[in-house]
Amino acid sequence: MALVPLNLLVTHNGKSKRQHITCVYKCGDACSKPVPNTSDNEYFGDIVKALSRRSMLRAGGIAVLAVGAGSALAACGSDEQPAATPTSSSTAPAEPPPGMRFTSVAPNSEDAVVIADGYQQAVVISWGDPVLPGAPKFDVAGQTGAAQRAQFGFNNDFAGLLPIPGQQNRFLLVTNFEYVDPMFMFPGYDKDKPTREQFDVEIAAVGMGVVEVERTPQGLKPVMGRYNRRITADTPMTLTGPAAGTDFVKTAADPAGRTVAGTFANCAGGVTPWGTVLSGEENFQDYFGAAEGSPAPAPVDADRLDRYGISAEPSTLLWETFDQRFDLVATPNEPNRFGYIVELNPWDPASAPVKHSAMGRLKHEGANIYVTGDGTVVAYTGDDERFDYMYKFVSSKKMRPGTDPAAIAYNMTLLDEGTLYVAKLSSDIPANEIDGSGKLPSKGSFSGAGTWLPLVRSGPDGQAESLVDGFSPQEVAVFTRMAADKAGATKMDRPEDFEANPKTGKVYVALTNNNERGAPGEAPPDAANPRNDNKSGQVLEITDNHAGTDFTWDLLLVCGDPAAADTYFGGFDKTKVSPISCPDNLAFDSHGNLWISTDGNALDSNDGLFAVALEGPGRGETKQFLTVPLGAEACGPVVTDDLVTVCVQHPGEYDDNSIDDPVSRWPEGGNGTARPSVVAVWRTDGNIGV
Ligand code: FEO
Ligand code: CA
Ligand code: CA
Ligand code: CA
Repeated sequence: MALVPLNLLVTHNGKSKRQHITCVYKCGDACSKPVPNTSDNEYFGDIVKALSRRSMLRAGGIAVLAVGAGSALAACGSDEQPAATPTSSSTAPAEPPPGMRFTSVAPNSEDAVVIADGYQQAVVISWGDPVLPGAPKFDVAGQTGAAQRAQFGFNNDFAGLLPIPGQQNRFLLVTNFEYVDPMFMFPGYDKDKPTREQFDVEIAAVGMGVVEVERTPQGLKPVMGRYNRRITADTPMTLTGPAAGTDFVKTAADPAGRTVAGTFANCAGGVTPWGTVLSGEENFQDYFGAAEGSPAPAPVDADRLDRYGISAEPSTLLWETFDQRFDLVATPNEPNRFGYIVELNPWDPASAPVKHSAMGRLKHEGANIYVTGDGTVVAYTGDDERFDYMYKFVSSKKMRPGTDPAAIAYNMTLLDEGTLYVAKLSSDIPANEIDGSGKLPSKGSFSGAGTWLPLVRSGPDGQAESLVDGFSPQEVAVFTRMAADKAGATKMDRPEDFEANPKTGKVYVALTNNNERGAPGEAPPDAANPRNDNKSGQVLEITDNHAGTDFTWDLLLVCGDPAAADTYFGGFDKTKVSPISCPDNLAFDSHGNLWISTDGNALDSNDGLFAVALEGPGRGETKQFLTVPLGAEACGPVVTDDLVTVCVQHPGEYDDNSIDDPVSRWPEGGNGTARPSVVAVWRTDGNIGV
């Protein structure tokens, strides 16, 4: 393995290395636009709550079925939260905990997936590879919409690996395809004059995919199996919950407001214990546009557009010039049909995916399930935008055990009936100890308490009760961000993946970064978001009363260069950790270690995948397991006992490059086209990190 010293191939003056072109196509350039949250929710340090750090209700453990050989059961551990006391080098364990016994990969800028010594890797599947029978092989010069509909999509983000019952070594690989970047798809692309054929390819290249894969000594190999499926920007989906059938979502093509065409901007997700997959519709706003100089789309309230970053001007991809449903003036309600959690039953290729409006409409990074001892289902979801919020949904019905079709059908209604909450945090750290530098407070670490504020309670058949003054339940479901503003939620530094540790029940949130924290007119630093102009992000640990409304929290990691004063690694010796920046997607191994993939590393290294010890004297130890190629983001990690998969998204996506002038040739090398791909990593002589 090449261990390349920190080679400052590109220098961005300590900024995230996220390229502007990635922001344009992935997020609708959200970071160059005004922050959509203009609410004046107060600084939470001023409203210290008297919540004691009492033991939380330990709600036993119905299995949260993870995936593959690493399936971990929710068996709750000790009631006590380990103290965040620094570990001196003399007491540090000589060896990392199980699951983390590998040699850390050094920061680098290789055009390769660089893995730990002693491991092997192979690409599982790439953009353009056949998924459905009859699909042609990838041909960059001969792309068609019809071909793309039967091929693996572009820019894989989330991945889930679901064991196929009764078939050893066979899994369903379920992926999201977050966004298209035509500059890196179509030779000779003209962004001012996209063609109909390019539009047809693009709407087929986003969405989701289901591919059977077989575990072989050479990694995971795709199979033309009976579950294989592509979901695109026009696959029919059922809208459920309070938004369904309302005037907010009715269109000429769907006068009943219950059948939505497709999904896109699918970022992270989660596998449910009942065997379905949840997918988060995230940056959906920039797929809608209007011709230059168009009148404001009536009858839509401008504040409602602004709060979601939607604007009546030409969109980046210009889809509105090919299909009126993307035209804000012609079809003003169409954006109200996106921004939901989509649930896909991958075991029934004919089934319509469901959009659960009871879970709110926001820029969902993903959603992940925890099941309490009595079968109550709790879904955690983050709204990935600077100064937006953390949410959870608590079901009113109980999960039915089993993964048979009847149990799946029943359990697919769990996320329609229950209560949606948003998080408000507090801390007893004196406000004058939070100065925006990231300096640790006198108590030694950042911590506090919090409350889940109820927004809407949903019942059967879309019936619902609003719990926010001045909002109807339908308004809460469709304009959730505004209801959460009114409720007084806490503004966070871009909440991304939000996931419970199946081993301990503690819940973790990746807060990626926030270049506006502390800026004039924006929210000041607080105990959970302690740095101004936060470039490298932090990881929040929540000890949640899962079905209840109170919690305590700690910052597990304050990310960045370990040599810098403003970083914190759970109290672990900072001279012994890997640098980590811009935490994004989370996963857990069967030992209870947290795995983190990064997006936008501000430390002039490629993005990567890291393991972090959570419990015991090694708490906070952070080791880099792999790095992804130049320009790529590491996404959707799956960590089983004997195999890790990672999605490599947007390899080579640099501002000054394109498919005609590539900086990356990964994975093929030579004269090959850079292609987003899923990669498997394993060891021939043992399990991962053991
Ligand atoms: Fe698609 Fe929140 O990153
Ligand atoms: Ca992401
Ligand atoms: Ca991200
Ligand atoms: Ca995850």
